Amino acid sequence: MAMTKRIFITGAAGFIGFHLTRYLRDRGDEVLGYDNFNDYYDPTLKEERIKQLEGVSVVRGDLCDLPFLSDVVDNFQPTHIVNLAAQAGVRYSLENPRAYIDSNISGFLNILEICKKTPQTKLIYASSSSVYGNNTKIPFSINDRTDDQASLYGVTKKSNELMAATYHHLYDISVTGLRFFTVYGEWGRPDMAYFSFTKKILNQEPIKVFNHGKMMRDFTYISDIVKGTTAAIDLGAPCEIFNLGNHQPVQLNRFIEILEQELEVKAIREYLPMQPGDVEKTYADIDYSRKLLGFSPEVSLEEGLSSFTSWYKDYYLEKTH
Ligand SMILES: NC(=O)c1ccc[n+]([C@@H]2O[C@H](COP(=O)([O-])OP(=O)(O)OC[C@H]3O[C@@H](n4cnc5c(N)ncnc54)[C@H](O)[C@@H]3O)[C@@H](O)[C@H]2O)c1
Repeated sequence: MAMTKRIFITGAAGFIGFHLTRYLRDRGDEVLGYDNFNDYYDPTLKEERIKQLEGVSVVRGDLCDLPFLSDVVDNFQPTHIVNLAAQAGVRYSLENPRAYIDSNISGFLNILEICKKTPQTKLIYASSSSVYGNNTKIPFSINDRTDDQASLYGVTKKSNELMAATYHHLYDISVTGLRFFTVYGEWGRPDMAYFSFTKKILNQEPIKVFNHGKMMRDFTYISDIVKGTTAAIDLGAPCEIFNLGNHQPVQLNRFIEILEQELEVKAIREYLPMQPGDVEKTYADIDYSRKLLGFSPEVSLEEGLSSFTSWYKDYYLEKTH
């Protein structure tokens, strides 16, 4: 029988971290969470998520507090560290660039420094489709160049990949970067379009449709992301990068139509030009992830948005929690 893993998950009160923590707990791994519960979006949602994590502790702390973070990790002695804590969001990186340097660069360096002391601990960390920046060659392959960034958020994620590869080279740490593509689902992030659109459509408020709805996104459902991330943990490769995307880009206009069908309410659309920092299209080439991780996304946008909108109504309108 495989040995139980001891997995330290940063950002465990966040959207992806919460789902991953629950999944790994349920399959029998020992999990410890870490999160600073910041108020980039409503922290009540973070508190509500961790209430669902019975049997798992989530320590309150910051990635930037190296002495505290080191103590927590030393006491837990993880076999794996999954670093999901970060300042997320492309657009906010134009407003508050410092938050990205603090959490994503200084915070990530702290994680690497901790791994350096215990090189047998395997690191899996969140990168992003944003590293493809202004790349126009589709689908986006891990072999494509990623040196033409469109936002500071992308810069921090690309820097993480370079930092991780360098620490692998210098100290032989096992590092795996996961380029997530527009992840959505229950308990999701209120700052993301699928979430804020749902709220506004239900309230009959206008939604801002950038690039006149012609933007394309490779929306990827949370359960597929959790499976891909778990496969990366189980593989524990020496030094890899994987795309985790649905491989089925959908136009923003079509995505709004599906939401309208699910909510049975027509959206009031305010068409606007492209926003600075944004890219026109994301589309994941997942051949390599298929081959090494057995990654095979299963949930269509229709199914995924149906689960999301049911959860949303239940959580915000029925208040059953
Ligand atoms: N959701 C997506 O579509 C998507 C796409 C690409 C990449 N990612 C990346 O995946 C990871 C998880 O994203 P998410 O969507 O779950 O975001 P999230 O904001 O819901 O989760 C991140 C969590 O990290 C915590 N955190 C932030 N800074 C911290 C710090 N300095 N110390 C301790 N905790 C801190 C936050 O409180 C939050 O709970 C992030 O690294 C994000 O950049 C997400």
